Amino acid sequence: MDFDIADPSLAEKGARRIAWAGRRMPVLETIRERFRSQRPLEGRTVAACLHVTAETANLMMALRDGGAQVLLCASNPLSTQDDVAAALVEDNIPVFAVRGEDAERYYRHIHAVLDAEPDVTMDDGADLATILHTDRTELNPVGSTEETTTGVIRLRAMAKDGTLRLPVVAVNDSATKHLFDNRYGTGQSAIDGILRASNVLLAGSTVVVVGYGDCGRGVADRADGFGAKVVVVEVDPIRALEAAMDGHQVLNADDAAEIGDVFITVTGNKHVLRGRHFERMKDGAILSNAGHFDIELDLEGLIGMAVSRRPLRENLEEFELADGRRLCVAAEGRLVNLGAAEGHPADVMDMSFANQAMAAEWLIGNAGSLEPRIYTLPEELDDQVAAIKLATMGCGLEELTEEQKQYLASWQVGT
Ligand code: ADE
Repeated sequence: MDFDIADPSLAEKGARRIAWAGRRMPVLETIRERFRSQRPLEGRTVAACLHVTAETANLMMALRDGGAQVLLCASNPLSTQDDVAAALVEDNIPVFAVRGEDAERYYRHIHAVLDAEPDVTMDDGADLATILHTDRTELNPVGSTEETTTGVIRLRAMAKDGTLRLPVVAVNDSATKHLFDNRYGTGQSAIDGILRASNVLLAGSTVVVVGYGDCGRGVADRADGFGAKVVVVEVDPIRALEAAMDGHQVLNADDAAEIGDVFITVTGNKHVLRGRHFERMKDGAILSNAGHFDIELDLEGLIGMAVSRRPLRENLEEFELADGRRLCVAAEGRLVNLGAAEGHPADVMDMSFANQAMAAEWLIGNAGSLEPRIYTLPEELDDQVAAIKLATMGCGLEELTEEQKQYLASWQVGT
C-alpha cells in the first residue's frame, strides 16, 4: 500500500484519539452500522481531501465499512494530525499527509489520491474538484462532495461560468452542517486555537471579528461568553445590523484596528486586514484567521513592513515594525482552529460527516442520472440527522396533532 505520513510509530496514540472522537459521533455511528449491513459503496473508490483529524478518521472508517476503498490527503498543509494519519495507515487506509508539508508535497499528495481514479471525490475547499478541472481532466468521477463555504463559493463560480463538469453535493448547505459546524464548531475551536497559541486572557480584552456569517457569529458569541468586548467588522449592511442587535459594537476595519487586542478574520476574502490596518494596531495585538485559506491577513504586506520577526511560542510569531510596535500572528495566518488547536469538536463534526457519508451514498445511488451542477442533500436527510442528534442528546421532540396539521394546511380558517 502506497502512503506518505510523518511517523508510523504514532499509530497507537492516534488510534486512541480516533476512538475517543468516535464515542462522541453517534449520528455517524448510526450510518456506519447501516453501511456495515447494506454496503452501499461496495467496490467504489472514494478519494478525500479533508483535514486529517480524529473526526475525519471516523468518517473514513465509516466509508470503508460501507464497502469503499478510501484514500485521504490533507485539505490544509498545517491541519494534519500526524498520529491520526499513522493510525489510519496502520488500519490499511492510505493517507498522504504530513503536518507542515510544503506546497509541492501538498499537491503531490492531492495527485496521489486522484491516481486511484476515484468514483467519488470529497473536498474541504474544492482542491480536488479544481484539479479535476485543470490537470486531471482524464478522470471522470460520478461526483464530488464539498464540506465548506469557501469550497461551495469556488464551485458556484465554476457553475456560473459554465465550466463545472461534475455533479457536486454542497454538504455545507445542509442545515445540520452550516447551522452547527460553522457557528458552534468554528466559534469554539477558533477561540481554542487563539488561546492555545497565546494563552491571553479574553475577559476585558477587545476581540475584533472580521466577517459576520455563520462562522463569524459563532466566534463573536463565544468571545462574548469569555467576557471580551466584541467588535464586528462587516461589509454587508444586513449582517452588520444583525451584529449590532446581537449586542456587538460594529465598526469599519480602520476604526476597529485601533482598539483591538485580538483579531480574527472569518470572511473567506482576501487581505481583509492589510497594511493600512497594521499601521493603526496596538503594540502586542494578536492576529489570527479562521477562514479556509491563508489569504485573509496580508502577511506578505506585514513581512514587508516588519524590521524583524521571531517565533514567540508554538504557533505564534512576532513581527516588529519600524516604530517598535509588535504584531503577533497565530498559526502562520492559516486557519487557527486547526493550525493551533484540533479543529471542531467531534460532537459537531458528527453531523457534518454524517452528511458527507450520506452525500457519497447519494452520489453513488444516483450515478448516471445527475447533471453537472450543485446539489443539496434532500431535506428529509437533514431532518433525519437532526432527529438522531436530538435523541442522542436526550432531547424530546414535540409532534403535531392531526388537527394542527390540517390547520397549517388550510387557508380558510383565520381564527
Ligand atoms: N473542520 C473543522 N474542524 C474539523 C475537524 N475536527 N475535523 C475535520 N475537519 C474539520
